[in-house]
Amino acid sequence: MDTNSHGLLSVAAVTTMDKVMNRQIRCSLSLANATALTEPPQVPDTPIETLYVHIPFCHTLCRYCSFHKVKFDESLARAYFVALRQEITAVLRMGYRFNRVYLGGGTTTILEDELIKTIELIRSMTPIREVTCESDPFYFRQGNPEHLRGLIDRMSIGVQSFEDRILKATGRFEKFGSGREQADYISQAIQLFPTVNLDMMYGFAGQTPDSVYRDLEQAMALAPEQITTYPLTPGIGKNRKKCAPIMGPDRYLWHQFISVRHCLGQSFDQQFPWNFNRRQPGLTAHKYVLDGEDCLGVGSGAFGRFGQRFFVSSFDIHDYIAGIHANPNLPGIRFEKQLDSKALRRHELMIMMGHGYLDAAQFKAHSGQNLWQALPLEMAYLMACGALAKQGINYRVTEFGQFLALKMFAGFLSGMDYLREQASAGCHRYAT
Ligand SMILES: C[S@@+](CC[C@H](N)C(=O)[O-])C[C@H]1O[C@@H](n2cnc3c(N)ncnc32)[C@H](O)[C@@H]1O
Ligand code: SF4
Repeated sequence: MDTNSHGLLSVAAVTTMDKVMNRQIRCSLSLANATALTEPPQVPDTPIETLYVHIPFCHTLCRYCSFHKVKFDESLARAYFVALRQEITAVLRMGYRFNRVYLGGGTTTILEDELIKTIELIRSMTPIREVTCESDPFYFRQGNPEHLRGLIDRMSIGVQSFEDRILKATGRFEKFGSGREQADYISQAIQLFPTVNLDMMYGFAGQTPDSVYRDLEQAMALAPEQITTYPLTPGIGKNRKKCAPIMGPDRYLWHQFISVRHCLGQSFDQQFPWNFNRRQPGLTAHKYVLDGEDCLGVGSGAFGRFGQRFFVSSFDIHDYIAGIHANPNLPGIRFEKQLDSKALRRHELMIMMGHGYLDAAQFKAHSGQNLWQALPLEMAYLMACGALAKQGINYRVTEFGQFLALKMFAGFLSGMDYLREQASAGCHRYAT
C-alpha cells in the first residue's frame, strides 16, 4: 500500500480487519458451546456439494502447516484407511449424496494402494461429478501416478515455492528436492489428469514482489489449468509460534498480492483473489473446495457444514478408529455447533467479495435481508475504506477490496486452525 493519505487509510483498514476477524473467529468458531452429537444429521433432500475425505499422515511435518496430520506409521495408517472406508460406506448407505469428492491431507498418496481402494469404493457406490486429490511433488517421482489415471479428475499439487531458499526454510527441500527437481517431477504428472492445480504460497520472510513474480512464472511455465496462491497464514494457536520465524512482515503482502495478480493475469483468470484458472477456450472452470458450498467431512479431523450446523470429527486417530469400529454404520462426526445467522452472512459476504461482486438480489434471496440490513457495520466499513464501488443496486469489489477478501480468507484459514486446536484438546471429552 502507498503511504499517501489513501495508503494510510488502507493500512488502517487492513489492521482493523485483522483485529475484527480475529475476534469474530474466536467468538463464532468457539467450540465451548459445541455439543456431542447424539444421532447423525438428517440426510438432506438434495446432494451435499462436497464429500471431504481427510488423510492425516505425513512423512515429516512442514514448518508452516497447520492442517491436522501426524507422522506416518504404516500399521496405524492402514487401520485408518479401513475405518475410513467403513465410514464412507456408512455415509453412502444412509443415503447421503455428493456432487464432488475432495481428498485432502496430510499426504493423501502416502499409501497409494489404500488411496486407490478408497476412491474405487466411492466411485462404485455413487456417481460423482469430480474427484479432487491433493498431493506433493515428490509423489510424481516416487509413486505410480499413472495408477490414479481415470480415478482423479483434478490433481492439486502443493509446491508452495520453487525458490530453494524457501524450500529449505520450510523443510521441503530435504523432503521433496530442489525447485528445479520438483518442476521436473510435476511436468511428468501434468499430462495424466484432466485438471492440475498448483498450490503456491507467498508472504515468506525475504520474499519480494519480484521474487513472487518469478516464482509464479515458473509455475505458469508448467502449464497447469489452475494455480492457487495462499498467503502464508500463521494460524491462531501453537502453529503461530512455529510459523513466525519464516513469515515476512504483514505490510509487504499487498505488493506481493499485486505481483500475483499481474503475473497470473497474463494468462489466467482470477476466480477468487487466491484462485486462478488458465484462460483457454473450452476449459470449464473447476470449483474450489472453499467456495462456501455445503460439505460433509469424513476421517479424523474432518470438518463439515450444511444447513446452519457445523460438524467436527475426532482429532485423535486411535479414538476415531475405535469410534468407527464401535458404530460401523454411523458417520464418525463427534460433535456439532449451531452457527448463528450473522456468522453465515459474514461467510457469504466473504465469498461474494472473493468473487469480486456483491449481488444484492442474490444475497437477499439467501438471507431474506438486504446487505445493509444484514451487515450494516461491515458494509459501512467496506464502503468507507474503498473496498466497494456502487453499481446500481450492486457493488463491484475494487482491487483493494479483493485484497481485503484475501485477508478475510486468511482469517478463515486461521479459524480452521483455531477449531483444530480446540478439537484436539477436547476430543476425548466428546468421545462416545
Ligand atoms: C494441507 S496441504 C496438503 C498438500 C500436500 N501435503 C503438500 O504438502 O504438498 C494443502 C495446501 O495448504 C496450503 N497451506 C498449508 N499450510 C498453510 C498455511 N499455514 N498458510 C497458507 N496456506 C497453507 C499449502 O499451499 C498446501 O499445498
Ligand atoms: S504441507 Fe503437506 S506435507 Fe507438509 S505437513 Fe502439511 S500436509 Fe504434510
